[in-house]
Amino acid sequence: MRPWVLHVCGARPNFMKVAPVWRAIASRAELGQKLLHTGQHYDEKMSDVFFAELGLPVPDVALGVGSGSHAEQTAKLMVELEKVVARERPQLISVVGDVNSTLAAALVAAKACIPLAHVEAGLRSFDRGMPEEVNRVVVDRLADLLLTPSADGDANLRNEGVDPKRIVRVGNVMIDSLRAQLQTAQLRDALAKLKLKPKSYAVLTLHRPANVDDPQVLARILDGVRWVQSQLPVVFPVHPRTRATLGALADKLGGMPNLIRVDPQGYLDFLCLTSQARLVLTDSGGLQEETTALGVPCLTLRQNTERPITVSEGTNQLVGTDPKRIRAAAEEILAGKGKPGRIPEGWDGRAGERVARTYERFLGRALS
Ligand code: UD1
Repeated sequence: MRPWVLHVCGARPNFMKVAPVWRAIASRAELGQKLLHTGQHYDEKMSDVFFAELGLPVPDVALGVGSGSHAEQTAKLMVELEKVVARERPQLISVVGDVNSTLAAALVAAKACIPLAHVEAGLRSFDRGMPEEVNRVVVDRLADLLLTPSADGDANLRNEGVDPKRIVRVGNVMIDSLRAQLQTAQLRDALAKLKLKPKSYAVLTLHRPANVDDPQVLARILDGVRWVQSQLPVVFPVHPRTRATLGALADKLGGMPNLIRVDPQGYLDFLCLTSQARLVLTDSGGLQEETTALGVPCLTLRQNTERPITVSEGTNQLVGTDPKRIRAAAEEILAGKGKPGRIPEGWDGRAGERVARTYERFLGRALS
């Protein structure tokens, strides 16, 4: 029997990273594979639509673990994953990104003595207040194969003492999905539905706990967005976590008629919106990379980023959450003085293939 890989995914930003790796392995004969969805994200708009649009198959295993505190969610994930791993015994477990599902799968793989590969390894914000940073550090510590998107990832791992033989720079798998779907996305009617014209609106997303869990912090960010929406419509797909806090800010939202709140968008509609935006404001990690790949100006509403290449090479600027800084940076961009960017090396649509080849080599060696 062919050696096979178990892919574990669970939350929205995982799906566009797994899809290209899945496709690349499927197009070659060397390895088998199975897909496991933990159910960390479970809403139709946070999960199902992504599977359909990214061409991912129905998962072989669906755990339906759902939400909870970090400890509850991670513990539930581990209990369920351990049973699957004991039953299935894959030759390799592949995890992507930095969500709690990634962490739980890494811990389970390590304790079951099954080799672990981490796609998107090496990213660091150096901010342990971010739950994802804790996840990234632990997963990379446990991984046997660390597949990095950019040179900063390699350097971070070497600085932490990771054996360089385990580090393979494959490029950015998420950008594979973007490149594969951009044309299809731009044919969607997402702009028309909102009565928007290309390059005449902004997109806003917010979901980091540090930005959205406290109504006072969220209110301050919205103060910065107020000026932007006085200049052009701002489309704001609202994450479920953010929705919970926005309820307390109805007065503020009432004074922002050009802030267009919509439900979380599917992959294609969202790409349709972001690719034709004049400006994106976000605290998402993935969107910092997508805007760099699209050449769309991005203001990141955080003090730090685990994706510094989007600042050093791409269109991204870190502006934090001070309303004055948000306004000043947006003014520059709307005045046509935004910073130009270039597309980093390895963001070429072939990263999934490089991951597949790396897995083949790794398993060839491990099993010979
Ligand atoms: C998770 C990831 C984060 C990622 C984000 C993308 C961790 C630690 N965080 O954060 O890195 O950027 O996903 O969305 O893994 N909820 C729903 N429907 C869903 C899923 C969640 O309503 O399908 C609500 C629940 O109230 C839940 C809350 O959203 O408690 C937060 O969900 P959770 O998975 O805990 O974290 P995210 O904030 O989505």
